[in-house]
Amino acid sequence: MHDFKYKNNRLYCEGIAVAEIAKKVGTPFYLYSRKTIIDHYRKLKTAFREVDPLICYSVKANSSLAILKVLVNEGAGLDIVSGGELYRARRVGVDPKRIVYAGVGKTQTEIDAGLKAGILFFNVESLNELYLLNQRAGALNKRPYAAIRVNPNVSARTHKYITTGRHENKFGLDFTTARWIFFNSNKFPHVRLRGLHVHIGSQIVNSGPFLSAIKKVRNFVVGLKGLGVKVEYLNIGGGLGIIYKDERPQTADEYARVVVPILKDTGLKIILEPGRFIVGNAGILVTRVSYVKQTKNKNFIIVDAGMSDFIRPTLYEAYHEVLPGTKTRARTRKFDVVGPICETGDFFALNRKMAEPAEGNLLAVMSAGAYGFSMSSNYNSRVKPCEVMVVAKKSFVIRKREGCKDLVRGEVLPTALK
Ligand SMILES: Cc1ncc(COP(=O)(O)O)c(C=O)c1O
Repeated sequence: MHDFKYKNNRLYCEGIAVAEIAKKVGTPFYLYSRKTIIDHYRKLKTAFREVDPLICYSVKANSSLAILKVLVNEGAGLDIVSGGELYRARRVGVDPKRIVYAGVGKTQTEIDAGLKAGILFFNVESLNELYLLNQRAGALNKRPYAAIRVNPNVSARTHKYITTGRHENKFGLDFTTARWIFFNSNKFPHVRLRGLHVHIGSQIVNSGPFLSAIKKVRNFVVGLKGLGVKVEYLNIGGGLGIIYKDERPQTADEYARVVVPILKDTGLKIILEPGRFIVGNAGILVTRVSYVKQTKNKNFIIVDAGMSDFIRPTLYEAYHEVLPGTKTRARTRKFDVVGPICETGDFFALNRKMAEPAEGNLLAVMSAGAYGFSMSSNYNSRVKPCEVMVVAKKSFVIRKREGCKDLVRGEVLPTALK
């Protein structure tokens, strides 16, 4: 599952005690295990080997250059959603022909950047985006591949903020519009319509919704092919759920066992876009207890990380285990584990039964590798934490802790205010 384990009551990442790393870099910090990242990538690649997929890691889950590099070295492509993510992708030297680009609001500048880079696919999410892509491709003398992202109207049975495949969601196009596009491809002479894309949401723990969505898209593609439309690629998105608490998500093998049989006879090249599955359990957020505070109603553990560093608990009411850096025999009580930010929503755990820590102890917020640092902010003018990766039993800072100068970088005091 992952490589964060206790040895003699001390939490380790691979072969290194978390406390040793904390001594070197201070707190809070994100800590990633390269081994876990690679293991997860390989699990998926192996599970889908019959269809030899292109796995495009979803950069938004954790866009650290070092993590992208680990995956690109393994042969992964990248799934991007902005010009900034394209920049990151290029910085790690991924072959542009392994980049796919989704997103409902691509700007002209972003489209131009993708065209100039020569990416594999634009995953088109609206008719007007397709008109713009066609126009820009003509202007720049390019003939990009485009996939139509379809919205299959399937419930992913996950949190409403990360459900993307219902008709009321902003993503993708319905099948009728998609069909119209393929039969009117002459209206888009500069674009090669070669694929279908579907992504119905994130943290999906049951294969049922995947199966319904992929079946619908598969049948649609087979229908198109039967009518002479050339479709080469099917991108089945990401969304695989992981264990945060007591979920029993489908494994990569179980997922493949359900999905591969309906894909393998189509002759389509298959693309997957996993994010959370690869990095979610490969990272933790390490924080130090600043104060233990008891009130008449509650016990609080106040730590030095906050919702600016890790927003999932408050944004999605997500459960994350909070474990001690060193296990003790201290009495257990119920605590709210909270940060220093001026918001009641600034918490990592509520009413959590745990051993009472001493001030100065380390705590680890587990399964924080996905949508952790990539969603962090400078709210309350807090500097972003540093990020560390364990590689072959050595720890490396892969992003420095910010300083106060970083907080005001780019700000200007107008002379009129002098
Ligand atoms: C288009 C697309 N693909 C892939 C992903 C990755 O999802 P996950 O991290 O759940 O695998 C997302 C996440 O929002 C997405 O929007």
